[in-house]
Amino acid sequence: MKILITGGSGYVGSRLTYFLLEKYDDMHIYNYDLSFFGDKHLPFNNKNYTYIKEDIRNSDKFNEILKNNKIDIVIHLACLSNDPSFELNPKISRTINYECFENLVLSSKKNNIKKFIYASSSSVYGVSESPRVDETHKLVPLTDYNKYKGLCEPILQSNINDDFHGIIIRPATVCGYSEKMRFDLSVNILTNFAYNKNYINIFGGEQYRPNLHIDDMCNLYDYLIFKDTNKFNGEIFNAGSQNLKIKEIAKIVAKIVPQYTNKEIELNYSKNDDNRSYRITSDKINDVLNFKIEKNIEDAVHDLCKAFEKNLIKDSFNEQFVNIKTLQKLNLT
Ligand SMILES: NC(=O)c1ccc[n+]([C@@H]2O[C@H](COP(=O)([O-])OP(=O)(O)OC[C@H]3O[C@@H](n4cnc5c(N)ncnc54)[C@H](O)[C@@H]3O)[C@@H](O)[C@H]2O)c1
Repeated sequence: MKILITGGSGYVGSRLTYFLLEKYDDMHIYNYDLSFFGDKHLPFNNKNYTYIKEDIRNSDKFNEILKNNKIDIVIHLACLSNDPSFELNPKISRTINYECFENLVLSSKKNNIKKFIYASSSSVYGVSESPRVDETHKLVPLTDYNKYKGLCEPILQSNINDDFHGIIIRPATVCGYSEKMRFDLSVNILTNFAYNKNYINIFGGEQYRPNLHIDDMCNLYDYLIFKDTNKFNGEIFNAGSQNLKIKEIAKIVAKIVPQYTNKEIELNYSKNDDNRSYRITSDKINDVLNFKIEKNIEDAVHDLCKAFEKNLIKDSFNEQFVNIKTLQKLNLT
């Protein structure tokens, strides 16, 4: 089995790569990524791993890699993966997150890829009062990042056929330990501050956000690789477990972290104008796809604390862990 992951150097892609390489001896992972946030953490010594440091906008290169390596499945993760990163240079961001997408799909189809799995985002819903936002809910994108994540979905759906399957996942905000950490995601950032500085700053706090443990994210991609997707071709699935207010997440973090540090956590509240708020339901992935989400935010906080204890994460306030700060220095073209 040959899997090509675009964005395989990133937060989700790195964990997914290690997870799959550890689990399967007969799977080869091709990581197609420009590695904006570094590549030292990648498993270069693994014989089942190939690193292609390339741009997803380079259509000739992407085509060549698929053709020469007879890839079976593409998991498309690469993009500028949050609002501020997208806003840094919206024109260039559009080329990465949207304009090249059709070519990635067409090239995959042409090269006999069996399945194309697209990581969209539950942020496509933007804002909703509904306590149960399912996949049929209208999209109210509040930012261009949300908008273009959503606009890629019908491009994939319009290209599927019996030989070329497309599956779209709308993940909640992912949390937990990865070989390439991101400390600009809510649970991760709160745990980093609580563990290393003994305080948490809560901006706003009233907005609801769904969350997903990174192990469940990886289990889901693994499940989709092997699942017979005939009946689900072109379908969209939410993937998230707990819908919580940011201030509720902060309370969970403040309860767990002192078990490791023996220090009380100070909670500082201030105002915020980020009004994204939505609560997704992932019943469809459970009922239709029969995929069970098993972990929760508490697990992610414990995992991060253990990773800090083992010194697996060094210099956690370094800018490399905050996408926008790294990208500001890169001057993307
Ligand atoms: N992390 C989350 O909470 C979350 C939630 C919902 C959806 N998603 C989606 O899941 C995917 C992975 O998220 P992540 O947190 O791992 O993101 P990430 O920012 O950590 O990784 C993205 C990777 O894409 C690469 N990349 C960006 N532009 C590229 C280009 N032009 N060519 C080649 N590579 C390029 C970057 O170098 C990076 O390694 C993204 O599509 C994101 O939108 C993530």
